[in-house]
Amino acid sequence: MILEGKKYAELINNETKEILKELNEKSIYPCLAVVVVGNDHASAVYVRNKKRVLDNLGISNMDVVLPENISKEELEKKLNELSNNKVVTSILLQLPLPEHLKEDTNEIMSHICSEKDVDGFTAENIGNLDLYKNVIAPCTPAGIIKMLKYENVEIDGKHVVIVGRSNIVGKPLAKLFLRENATVTICHSYTKDLRKFTSDADILIAAVGKANFITADMVKEDSIVIDVGINRVNGKLVGDVDFEHVKEKVEMITPVPGGVGKITTAMLAYNVVRYI
Ligand code: GUN
Repeated sequence: MILEGKKYAELINNETKEILKELNEKSIYPCLAVVVVGNDHASAVYVRNKKRVLDNLGISNMDVVLPENISKEELEKKLNELSNNKVVTSILLQLPLPEHLKEDTNEIMSHICSEKDVDGFTAENIGNLDLYKNVIAPCTPAGIIKMLKYENVEIDGKHVVIVGRSNIVGKPLAKLFLRENATVTICHSYTKDLRKFTSDADILIAAVGKANFITADMVKEDSIVIDVGINRVNGKLVGDVDFEHVKEKVEMITPVPGGVGKITTAMLAYNVVRYI
């Protein structure tokens, strides 16, 4: 079975519309500030897609476009201003930041007040995700769990193997799966004998950033494979999974494009209305 992102995005969008309607009835109008620093091409594409989803749902949003060479202090000042702006209910700082700000990303992020942190990237929200149930969770991990729930996939006791330990996907996703009673293994570039782990996975998450990295011999028969990779090969978007071969062996698999990416953008809109 191919898990088409469009289907789950629609289901998430329907939930978002319901919540938005209830908020509007109470004269509450969510507004997302989208902060983009510089002109990274990939970021521009992601942001355009995110804004299109918000516009289609009637969620107001504003662009905050800042110059590539902005200083750390100026960017932090801007985030403080947005945190204090009563009209703005959520803030998204598009990552990655330009090279000169990269190593300060976490410190810069801490200038977004946690209540408006739509990505769940501030230290407080990262901690809260460990401690409490209903807190904001990063969009991609939260969307993956939602998709599996829509499909009534049993997660309890399953071995979930996540390849990739990023703050955006691998680590928060591990927490969410633990909360669902899975047994979780996180692998990364230093893992020895990766295949030993991946071939034992009931649910395998590929979030490596390497085209066709997960091959058919690395996956378990009738397992579930979720591909978070977005790689460009000869101008074509491909995931981290060798889709054509792996799909013959597994029970469920997400395609790239048209899989997790679509769910992530829907989840962003959901987070904007859900955590207001
Ligand atoms: N860059 C890549 N993915 C993401 C994401 O989910 N949120 C933000 N803010 N930046 C990203």
